[in-house]
Amino acid sequence: MTSTSASSIPTYPTVPLSNGLQIPILGLGTSHHGGYSHRAVVYALRDCGLRHIDTARRYGCEEQLGVAVQESGVRREDLWLTTKLWPGDYGYLSTRQACLASCKRLGVDYLDLYLMHWPDCSVPGRSNREVRAETWRALEELYDEGVCRAIGVSNFLIPHLEELKEDCGIVPHVNQVEYHPFQQPQEIVQYCRREGIVFEGYCPLAKGEALTHPAILHLADKYKRTPAQICIRWSIQNGVVTIPKSTKEERIWENCQVFGFSLLQEDMDYAKTLHSNKKVIHLSYPLWKG
Ligand SMILES: NC(=O)c1ccc[n+]([C@@H]2O[C@H](COP(=O)([O-])OP(=O)(O)OC[C@H]3O[C@@H](n4cnc5c(N)ncnc54)[C@H](OP(=O)(O)O)[C@@H]3O)[C@@H](O)[C@H]2O)c1
Repeated sequence: MTSTSASSIPTYPTVPLSNGLQIPILGLGTSHHGGYSHRAVVYALRDCGLRHIDTARRYGCEEQLGVAVQESGVRREDLWLTTKLWPGDYGYLSTRQACLASCKRLGVDYLDLYLMHWPDCSVPGRSNREVRAETWRALEELYDEGVCRAIGVSNFLIPHLEELKEDCGIVPHVNQVEYHPFQQPQEIVQYCRREGIVFEGYCPLAKGEALTHPAILHLADKYKRTPAQICIRWSIQNGVVTIPKSTKEERIWENCQVFGFSLLQEDMDYAKTLHSNKKVIHLSYPLWKG
């Protein structure tokens, strides 16, 4: 599917969104947990050919990413940049301001994908549903104006998506949800696919916890690949947009070498049995107050 020699920079497969855009199936995560590495981001873009970066206002690195993108020399039009709106910014005017502020920090005049980070927002005197709908309408406007080429949500469950469908006009292009061998929310995956929403998975390595699981180690040994490559390959082979994070160049390289092999159906089925509903991400509402 891709060439991986050092001399020819690979290009990565993409997944079509309902509006015709193509999102690269493999991206680089940049969450604040574990810190930020400028060198690693430049390396991912320049040497690994990654063209998809996932970030968020919450991660606090948008400005640094803007600098890294500049230094990499990758053209804006060749890059897929996703960032996220933090619940503390939900609401019509604050959403617009937050989006434009993210663009400014990233040094761009448009985003490829803008996501509502979390379904809950706990605004006193207003229902979450009401605030979500108002916020989504601001995103729809930013989409119509071309500031966001695609808009979506993150951590939304089926009832949240159903409500949004009743309250608003545009069906989210993407729903980004935790997805790894221990967390396989098949009902949401199937729902998203039925509704034309691309399912994007975060924490593909379960923040590293999947890398020592005996079943993953067994598959790594069987395919002569690393545990991280098994997890990422499994996610991609399920058609899920996948965004592993590493701050280390050699690991980013390793995490990109997932297109030269495939897992047998029996091993895809085996991996299904690892679902335990374990989540590695938990947010609590006071986090976004203030
Ligand atoms: N929408 C949301 O609410 C949400 C929530 C969480 C995450 N996300 C997004 O999803 C991205 C990925 O999730 P994540 O960063 O939480 O977790 P992850 O990608 O599952 O795991 C990252 C951890 O694995 C380590 N690692 C990476 N590659 C490795 C390898 N080849 N071998 C061994 N260890 C390796 C990293 O350490 P080193 O840096 O030391 O390599 C880091 O500690 C985030 O960065 C963020 O962009 C979104």
